[in-house]
Amino acid sequence: MKDKTILITGASGGIGRALARSFASAGARVVLLGRQSRPLIELVATLRAEGHEARLVIADLLTTPPADVACKAINAFGSLDGVINCAGVQHFGLSADQSAAATAETFAVNTVAPIQLIQALLPHLQGRSEAHIVNVGSIFGSIAFPCFATYSASKFALRGYSEALRRELAGGPVQVHYVAPRYTRTAINSEAVAHMADALGMHQDSPEAVAEQVLAAVLHKAADTYLGWPEKLFVRLNAILPRLVDRALIRQGRQMRPFARRHLAESN
Ligand SMILES: NC(=O)c1ccc[n+]([C@@H]2O[C@H](COP(=O)([O-])OP(=O)(O)OC[C@H]3O[C@@H](n4cnc5c(N)ncnc54)[C@H](OP(=O)(O)O)[C@@H]3O)[C@@H](O)[C@H]2O)c1
Repeated sequence: MKDKTILITGASGGIGRALARSFASAGARVVLLGRQSRPLIELVATLRAEGHEARLVIADLLTTPPADVACKAINAFGSLDGVINCAGVQHFGLSADQSAAATAETFAVNTVAPIQLIQALLPHLQGRSEAHIVNVGSIFGSIAFPCFATYSASKFALRGYSEALRRELAGGPVQVHYVAPRYTRTAINSEAVAHMADALGMHQDSPEAVAEQVLAAVLHKAADTYLGWPEKLFVRLNAILPRLVDRALIRQGRQMRPFARRHLAESN
């Protein structure tokens, strides 16, 4: 990653912070984007104190025009060699209980914002000798989960876009990577979701482990990366025999309902 400049969205979050550290430690200059200035200022200061090169861009991806975000990110160091679309939101609960605003935000942040940012950055990235686009998806972007219906759908769309774009850009300098974490211990998961993950025995990763897999995907030019062994297998099984997976997930969906109700009560 030496002499490469990488834009990381969602850098104030759990996985984004870990990505900033991993890529900076691998020698990259990092441009860190998020809405909250305080954690980003602290992160940039820490990275610089450790001898890394880091700059920040404070922007809300829902209200800042993608061309402005792209321009600020490129101007931070003068050029960019890659973008990691990591910013994301998750609204847990039964679909019938989800507000129209939460549904719209899910698709706007998880799907539309990364696509529009990529479109704004592509002319620049295509002028580089080698460039990388990483879209952080989810295992739920291949296995559609009850109580995460819109979140799953937003990540299915991001995965589909990543695959199409990879085919469109094949043979050129820009590589497209899709990385799908499983449950990771960060603030995106509410207390109710965290309790549910423990109660249902979901496999859990640290943000640092996810960041290392993202770095490995870029270094090894991996197209798709799914984290976790049983999850990798279930992704394939769901693609070939979705009706077989139905049974297990309908059962799990029933176990999730009390946690969804608790989450709804806590957020009201
Ligand atoms: N944690 C998991 O279990 C898990 C599993 C699979 C996939 N993922 C994916 O991993 C990615 C990172 O999630 P995380 O776990 O690190 O969550 P997180 O700690 O909640 O971080 C989310 C990040 O997204 C940013 N963000 C949200 N809305 C934004 C907006 N409108 N404009 C700009 N930035 C915005 C937040 O920035 P501010 O706080 O500064 O607004 C924050 O930096 C997401 O795409 C998520 O879907 C997570």
